[in-house]
Amino acid sequence: MSKLIVYTSTFGNTKKIAEAIVEATGPESRLVKADELTAEMLKDVDFAFVGSPTIAWNYAPGFGKVFDVIKSANVPGLKTAAFDTGLKKWYAGDGAGRISKKLAQVGCKAVGKMRFIVLGKEGPLKDGEVERAKEWGSGLCLRV
Ligand SMILES: Cc1cc2nc3c(=O)[nH]c(=O)nc-3n(C[C@H](O)[C@H](O)[C@H](O)COP(=O)(O)O)c2cc1C
Repeated sequence: MSKLIVYTSTFGNTKKIAEAIVEATGPESRLVKADELTAEMLKDVDFAFVGSPTIAWNYAPGFGKVFDVIKSANVPGLKTAAFDTGLKKWYAGDGAGRISKKLAQVGCKAVGKMRFIVLGKEGPLKDGEVERAKEWGSGLCLRV
Protein backbone atom coordinates (compact mmCIF):
# COMPACT_ATOMS: atom_id res chain seq x y z
CA MET A 1 0.00 0.00 0.00
CA SER A 2 1.51 3.28 -1.13
CA LYS A 3 1.50 6.00 1.53
CA LEU A 4 2.38 9.67 1.54
CA ILE A 5 3.13 11.56 4.74
CA VAL A 6 2.70 15.29 4.10
CA TYR A 7 3.76 17.71 6.82
CA THR A 8 4.95 21.16 7.68
CA SER A 9 7.09 22.07 10.67
CA THR A 10 8.93 25.16 11.89
CA PHE A 11 10.59 23.95 15.10
CA GLY A 12 10.87 20.26 14.21
CA ASN A 13 8.17 18.73 16.41
CA THR A 14 5.72 17.87 13.63
CA LYS A 15 8.63 16.69 11.50
CA LYS A 16 9.58 14.18 14.21
CA ILE A 17 6.01 12.86 14.28
CA ALA A 18 5.90 12.62 10.47
CA GLU A 19 9.23 10.77 10.40
CA ALA A 20 7.99 8.37 13.07
CA ILE A 21 4.90 7.58 10.99
CA VAL A 22 7.07 6.94 7.92
CA GLU A 23 9.35 4.67 9.92
CA ALA A 24 6.43 2.69 11.33
CA THR A 25 4.46 2.29 8.14
CA GLY A 26 6.98 0.54 5.97
CA PRO A 27 9.00 0.86 2.79
CA GLU A 28 6.13 2.16 0.64
CA SER A 29 5.84 5.33 2.74
CA ARG A 30 7.18 8.60 1.43
CA LEU A 31 7.77 11.78 3.41
CA VAL A 32 6.91 15.06 1.66
CA LYS A 33 7.12 18.64 2.89
CA ALA A 34 3.83 20.45 2.39
CA ASP A 35 5.32 23.10 0.12
CA GLU A 36 6.84 20.43 -2.13
CA LEU A 37 3.62 18.43 -2.62
CA THR A 38 2.47 18.13 -6.23
CA ALA A 39 -0.68 16.63 -7.72
CA GLU A 40 1.48 14.10 -9.54
CA MET A 41 2.74 12.70 -6.21
CA LEU A 42 -0.83 11.88 -5.20
CA LYS A 43 -1.55 9.65 -8.17
CA ASP A 44 -1.33 5.98 -7.16
CA VAL A 45 -1.26 6.84 -3.45
CA ASP A 46 -3.54 4.63 -1.33
CA PHE A 47 -3.33 6.52 1.94
CA ALA A 48 -2.13 10.00 2.88
CA PHE A 49 -1.24 11.29 6.36
CA VAL A 50 -1.51 15.08 6.52
CA GLY A 51 -0.01 16.98 9.46
CA SER A 52 0.76 20.47 10.72
CA PRO A 53 1.40 22.22 14.01
CA THR A 54 -1.61 23.97 15.46
CA ILE A 55 -0.93 27.68 15.09
CA ALA A 56 -3.51 30.14 16.39
CA TRP A 57 -6.14 27.34 16.69
CA ASN A 58 -5.73 26.29 13.08
CA TYR A 59 -3.24 24.53 10.83
CA ALA A 60 -0.09 26.54 10.05
CA PRO A 61 -0.27 29.62 7.82
CA GLY A 62 0.30 28.62 4.21
CA PHE A 63 -0.59 24.97 4.84
CA GLY A 64 -3.94 25.46 3.09
CA LYS A 65 -2.18 25.07 -0.26
CA VAL A 66 -2.00 21.34 0.47
CA PHE A 67 -5.79 21.12 0.09
CA ASP A 68 -5.66 22.95 -3.24
CA VAL A 69 -3.08 20.47 -4.52
CA ILE A 70 -5.16 17.52 -3.33
CA LYS A 71 -8.23 18.98 -5.03
CA SER A 72 -6.35 19.51 -8.27
CA ALA A 73 -5.05 15.92 -8.16
CA ASN A 74 -8.66 14.74 -8.53
CA VAL A 75 -8.39 11.70 -6.26
CA PRO A 76 -11.92 11.42 -4.84
CA GLY A 77 -12.23 9.09 -1.87
CA LEU A 78 -8.51 9.13 -1.13
CA LYS A 79 -8.10 7.74 2.39
CA THR A 80 -6.47 10.25 4.68
CA ALA A 81 -5.57 10.75 8.32
CA ALA A 82 -4.89 14.13 9.93
CA PHE A 83 -2.43 14.90 12.70
CA ASP A 84 -1.13 17.94 14.49
CA THR A 85 1.23 18.93 17.25
CA GLY A 86 0.17 21.43 19.86
CA LEU A 87 -0.32 22.25 23.49
CA LYS A 88 -2.55 20.36 25.86
CA LYS A 89 -4.49 23.37 27.12
CA TRP A 90 -8.17 24.14 27.20
CA TYR A 91 -7.59 26.99 24.73
CA ALA A 92 -5.29 25.00 22.40
CA GLY A 93 -7.68 24.41 19.50
CA ASP A 94 -7.52 21.40 17.23
CA GLY A 95 -5.36 21.67 14.13
CA ALA A 96 -5.97 18.03 13.23
CA GLY A 97 -9.69 18.65 13.36
CA ARG A 98 -9.34 21.62 11.00
CA ILE A 99 -7.22 19.52 8.63
CA SER A 100 -9.81 16.73 8.71
CA LYS A 101 -12.60 19.12 7.76
CA LYS A 102 -10.62 20.51 4.84
CA LEU A 103 -9.71 17.02 3.64
CA ALA A 104 -13.39 16.11 3.59
CA GLN A 105 -14.17 19.31 1.67
CA VAL A 106 -11.75 18.35 -1.09
CA GLY A 107 -13.30 14.90 -1.41
CA CYS A 108 -11.05 12.77 0.78
CA LYS A 109 -12.24 10.08 3.13
CA ALA A 110 -10.97 10.86 6.64
CA VAL A 111 -10.17 7.63 8.49
CA GLY A 112 -8.26 9.00 11.45
CA LYS A 113 -7.25 12.10 13.38
CA MET A 114 -4.73 12.55 16.19
CA ARG A 115 -3.10 15.32 18.22
CA PHE A 116 0.43 14.98 19.53
CA ILE A 117 1.37 17.05 22.53
CA VAL A 118 4.24 19.50 22.97
CA LEU A 119 5.20 20.94 26.34
CA GLY A 120 5.87 24.55 25.26
CA LYS A 121 5.18 26.94 22.40
CA GLU A 122 8.18 25.65 20.43
CA GLY A 123 8.24 22.13 21.88
CA PRO A 124 9.66 19.76 22.90
CA LEU A 125 7.33 16.86 22.32
CA LYS A 126 6.02 15.24 25.46
CA ASP A 127 7.81 11.99 26.31
CA GLY A 128 6.34 9.02 24.48
CA GLU A 129 4.68 10.97 21.66
CA VAL A 130 7.04 9.63 18.98
CA GLU A 131 6.26 6.06 20.03
CA ARG A 132 2.54 6.89 20.13
CA ALA A 133 2.80 8.24 16.57
CA LYS A 134 4.38 5.00 15.40
CA GLU A 135 1.62 2.93 16.98
CA TRP A 136 -1.12 5.19 15.62
CA GLY A 137 0.28 5.23 12.09
CA SER A 138 0.94 1.53 11.84
CA GLY A 139 -2.40 0.68 13.45
CA LEU A 140 -4.31 2.82 10.96
CA CYS A 141 -2.51 1.23 8.02
CA LEU A 142 -3.55 -2.21 9.22
CA ARG A 143 -7.20 -1.13 9.41
CA VAL A 144 -7.63 0.65 6.05
C1 LIG B 1 2.91 31.67 16.98
C2 LIG B 1 2.51 30.35 17.60
C3 LIG B 1 1.16 30.07 17.80
C4 LIG B 1 0.77 28.86 18.38
N1 LIG B 1 -0.57 28.62 18.55
C5 LIG B 1 -0.94 27.45 19.12
C6 LIG B 1 -2.32 27.15 19.29
O1 LIG B 1 -3.22 27.90 18.98
N2 LIG B 1 -2.64 25.95 19.85
C7 LIG B 1 -1.69 25.05 20.24
O2 LIG B 1 -2.05 24.00 20.73
N3 LIG B 1 -0.37 25.30 20.08
C8 LIG B 1 0.02 26.47 19.52
N4 LIG B 1 1.35 26.71 19.33
C9 LIG B 1 2.34 25.68 19.68
C10 LIG B 1 2.72 24.86 18.45
O3 LIG B 1 1.60 24.17 17.94
C11 LIG B 1 3.76 23.81 18.80
O4 LIG B 1 4.92 24.36 19.29
C12 LIG B 1 4.08 22.92 17.61
O5 LIG B 1 4.55 21.69 18.10
C13 LIG B 1 5.13 23.49 16.69
O6 LIG B 1 5.34 22.57 15.65
P1 LIG B 1 6.69 22.51 14.83
O7 LIG B 1 7.80 22.25 15.80
O8 LIG B 1 6.49 21.36 13.93
O9 LIG B 1 6.86 23.81 14.12
C14 LIG B 1 1.76 27.91 18.76
C15 LIG B 1 3.11 28.19 18.55
C16 LIG B 1 3.50 29.39 17.97
C17 LIG B 1 4.97 29.65 17.76
